[in-house]
Amino acid sequence: MEMAHEIRFFELNTGAKIPSLGLGTAQIDPSLLGEALATAIKVGYRHIDCAQLYGNEKEIGFILKKLFEDGVVKREDLWITSKLWSTDHAPEDVSEALDTTLRNLQLDYLDLYLIHWPIRMKKGSIGFKPENLIQPDIPSTWKAMEALYVSGKARAIGVSNFSSKKLGDLLEVARVPPAVNQVECHPSWQQPGLHAFCKSKGVHLSGYSPLGSPGSTWLKSDVLRNPILGMAAEKLGKTPAQVALRWGLQMGHSVLPKSTHEERIKDNFDIFNWSIPEVLLAKLSEIEQARLVTGNFGFVHETFGPYRTVEELWDGEI
Ligand code: A2P
Repeated sequence: MEMAHEIRFFELNTGAKIPSLGLGTAQIDPSLLGEALATAIKVGYRHIDCAQLYGNEKEIGFILKKLFEDGVVKREDLWITSKLWSTDHAPEDVSEALDTTLRNLQLDYLDLYLIHWPIRMKKGSIGFKPENLIQPDIPSTWKAMEALYVSGKARAIGVSNFSSKKLGDLLEVARVPPAVNQVECHPSWQQPGLHAFCKSKGVHLSGYSPLGSPGSTWLKSDVLRNPILGMAAEKLGKTPAQVALRWGLQMGHSVLPKSTHEERIKDNFDIFNWSIPEVLLAKLSEIEQARLVTGNFGFVHETFGPYRTVEELWDGEI
């Protein structure tokens, strides 16, 4: 059999290489995080996707410190991403937010720092209450992000949950172009338009919920149960999850699956020495499409904030 192209990294517009598979940490119970993260690193994961919002950066920092001290992995061999939360968009708050994240993670730089959402909330507000939504000013927040890049505390900067329109608007004013747009991406939400736009602008797309977040009770997800994905998995002798992840790599985006179970952490990493043939890729492109993470959990509101509808938040990409 032909040697599969492994696709271990993607090159960013900064010249850095982002590992193509990262461990997602959203909604992971801090008490389960230690073992999951240690297992992932031992299996070979070198990329961890964090965010201040996830409320577990202190635990992650604690585990990382131990792994560094025990010589399991070196800081410079890891790729660590975190994200600026929506309450800290004011330019004067951005640097402090990164400092807090760095302190919690016990690191002195991040490999990538992202604006988590094109959503701004009142400083210090907690939760997803529509009355806390205020008008974002992405150009001014971005200027503060650029300063972090220049300082070296964030070795790359980018955005998350940006539509093609919002990314295009940012590219118009950015002096340092965003390196990454991290968005929901999986076989049931392939985002071909956004993907092509990112590619044409040299912005790397990173896919969150690459398995469709089957464990999230607040989402109705059946991505892994899709019959076309199941058929491809059967033909390849792989699991639907593995096919979903490998599909992502072959589409050209990095994937950030979450798991707290050793078997699945291992399975999800086993996507480098085989590939999906063209005919099956074509079949996968026929899967019915639906966005799971719409933002209707408090980011769109008929009177509060800048977005009246889900259509407005995503500029029609729904
Ligand atoms: P668990 O932690 O019990 O393994 P996503 O990354 O798309 O958000 O999906 C994460 C969810 O998918 C978690 O609930 C995780 O559960 C589950 N999961 C992770 N890997 C697999 C897999 N290989 N097969 C099925 N479910 C998986």
